[in-house]
Amino acid sequence: MKLVLKNLKLVHPIQKFDDEPKDILIIDGIIEKVDILTKQETEGAKEFDLTGKVAAPGFFDMHVHLREPGREDEETVVTGCNASASGGFTAIACMPNTEPAIDSAEVIELIKKKAKGHLVDVYPVAAATLNRKGEVISPMAELYEAGAVGFSDDGTAIKTAAILKRALEYSKMYNLPIIEHCEDESLAGGAMNEGANSTFLGLPPIPSVAEDLIVMRDIMLAEYTGGKVHIAHISTKGAVELVRLAKQKGLNVTSEVTPHHFALTDDALKTYDTNYKMNPPLRTKADVDAILEGLKDGTIDCIASDHAPHSLEEKEAEFEYAPNGILGLETQVGLALTELYHKKVLSLEQLIEKFAINPRKILNLKVPTFNKGDKANITVLDVDEIWTVNISKFKSKSKNSPFDKRLLTGKPVAVVNNGKMFYNDEFIELK
Ligand code: DOR
Repeated sequence: MKLVLKNLKLVHPIQKFDDEPKDILIIDGIIEKVDILTKQETEGAKEFDLTGKVAAPGFFDMHVHLREPGREDEETVVTGCNASASGGFTAIACMPNTEPAIDSAEVIELIKKKAKGHLVDVYPVAAATLNRKGEVISPMAELYEAGAVGFSDDGTAIKTAAILKRALEYSKMYNLPIIEHCEDESLAGGAMNEGANSTFLGLPPIPSVAEDLIVMRDIMLAEYTGGKVHIAHISTKGAVELVRLAKQKGLNVTSEVTPHHFALTDDALKTYDTNYKMNPPLRTKADVDAILEGLKDGTIDCIASDHAPHSLEEKEAEFEYAPNGILGLETQVGLALTELYHKKVLSLEQLIEKFAINPRKILNLKVPTFNKGDKANITVLDVDEIWTVNISKFKSKSKNSPFDKRLLTGKPVAVVNNGKMFYNDEFIELK
């Protein structure tokens, strides 16, 4: 099948294109030509006029919780992939805190089987330790061979320095990162950030130093072992400063931030709405300012959702007892365009680098190009469209988003990958 995406501005941080609108000719899911096409060249093609829109390499969310296996009532591999396509993503990495955890080749095979044939590519992150308990290292060689792109005990930090040291030594053999949820266990267990708001609301606190301590430990062990550490969902000023210093030293340390950690502060908790409860918790304006600086100067490499579906019944509990986590896949591109691009924190090219290029570099995956002969793997954006988030339209099986009814500027319009296109709420076969 012949497909033409017409009149797009191409933005690719590595390939570089001029601002002139171009057409993309795709035959059977493969890029044939990128240029201003003649009538002859487009004859017989299915055409989409995308005047004024931007074409970027397909976006990659490296921090997604699919709840399969174990909690298919909250999300399955397929509903998570549908939410990804609808949110502007052609690929995701899924975290291992499923039931059972992703600590065996069998669970990786199951996830890969469920994702097969979908527009969205799914890359499992395996547990660093058996059942994420932090006691015994997972079978990393077997997990790597089955397709793991990184190792993590996400939900918690790897329990001890000794286990982390060993995990770094093993993962280094495969050049895979250890993706760390940085939180000191002895300071964990609260419900929100420690500060004036936690005192005012009377909720048990999690101090920011709980994150900073583990970031520091991990950086020191990355230096000692030469292994690769990726700091997940960075949320504190202290952590940003530590990662900046580690990068200045040339260490193998990278980081990601979620949209909620740059778009919200713990002031939002004054309503006691559990859709503002997540781990790490929302922090203060000083932390958000440090995160914006970190995004600007490259200390923070990626934007990732930490998409964490939870059932309505569980989220409706009292704040203290509700589970941590919020949805992110279907709002994060709009939030990033609104809060970072339109507020001039990042250029469009920098934003695309954080969504499409850096996650793949960290996970050793090929970055999509617009070269003839390459698989079409594209995210199309309307950077200026004003729209209102409506959770009832989400493809995710869960609805726990604090961003319902929020007005955003900029949204994903379409994605193309694996011989499929998602456009206007529909999957279209291109082969
Ligand atoms: O808020 C969170 N939710 N943080 C985590 O680390 C885990 C996640 C989940 O799986 O729900």
